[in-house]
Amino acid sequence: MTGCCGAGEKGHAGERPSLERVDVLSNERIAEGVGLMILHARHTASLVEPGQFVHLRVDKGRDFILRRPFSVHRARGEQIEILYQVLGQGTLAMAELSCSDDIDLIGPLGHGWDVPADVNHALLVSGGLGAAPLGGLAEKLAREGVAVTCAMGAPTQERLVGLDVFEAVARRVVIATDDGSEGELGFVTGPVERLLAEGSFDIVYACGPEVMQRAVAAMCAEVGVRCQVSLERLMACGIGACLSCVVTTKDGLKRACVEGPVFDAEEVCWDVSEIPPKH
Ligand SMILES: Cc1cc2nc3c(=O)[nH]c(=O)nc-3n(C[C@H](O)[C@H](O)[C@H](O)COP(=O)(O)OP(=O)(O)OC[C@H]3O[C@@H](n4cnc5c(N)ncnc54)[C@H](O)[C@@H]3O)c2cc1C
Ligand code: FES
Repeated sequence: MTGCCGAGEKGHAGERPSLERVDVLSNERIAEGVGLMILHARHTASLVEPGQFVHLRVDKGRDFILRRPFSVHRARGEQIEILYQVLGQGTLAMAELSCSDDIDLIGPLGHGWDVPADVNHALLVSGGLGAAPLGGLAEKLAREGVAVTCAMGAPTQERLVGLDVFEAVARRVVIATDDGSEGELGFVTGPVERLLAEGSFDIVYACGPEVMQRAVAAMCAEVGVRCQVSLERLMACGIGACLSCVVTTKDGLKRACVEGPVFDAEEVCWDVSEIPPKH
């Protein structure tokens, strides 16, 4: 991965969502197996709401048939940031992109986080790369005068991502790592339980491994705090046509790429939910 360079002028604003050929402005390794890619994506940057995603076609060297979905971590001016974990062939190819490359993107897609008008203090819970769709939300909440507390979990200190963004806007950041190399030892659900017991939150936003989101949802239900989750599903089309991404809800099957990826936690039928991708 490499850093650098100036922006081109390839994005075309139009009806949403839109296909853009966008320049890679920088692409750097920021943590163990994690890259931060900054794209000059004028159309998406101008429209994207926190929690929405883009569908990237990685075609450098190889031609992948399927696009890969990635949350927009933050949008700034005409740029968007993508935090990505290198897992398989697609993300390996992404890690090889540099500022002389451009990439094919559809965005913004999906339904992002809802911020009800009566929210005063929000708890954001991230597990690993779950920090990706929460960065822009933390900034938006802070801009709107909502107090933000963040609880971050990661396997190790080296795999903790998004801390700088959260620390810049949050009133308080609590960290837990599986090996205790940063913050307290154990899963993030430990501090979340204690924070919820303080009783000062009127909403919780969670993203991370589904088992974590489910546990957070259960804790919120117990104390009567609203909770939204961002669910990952395998996605083929990304635009609602193929039904590869369905989530079973109390209201029937919903497409994570259109009605989600953000859902009200109470709406999700966790027991019959489809098997999410394993990371
Ligand atoms: C709405 C949404 C937002 C996402 N946001 C992010 C993000 O911000 N950062 C990030 O690192 N990852 C994100 N993901 C997951 C990311 O899309 C996959 O990790 C990526 O597609 C894997 O591609 P690959 O070719 O490297 O891996 P593959 O070789 O295809 O597979 C490696 C692993 O990734 C999983 N995977 C493959 N394709 C998908 C897919 N289309 N959707 C979900 N998982 C998949 C597989 O189950 C497997 O476990 C998001 C997924 C969704 C659905
Ligand atoms: S990915 Fe095709 S319907 Fe959601």
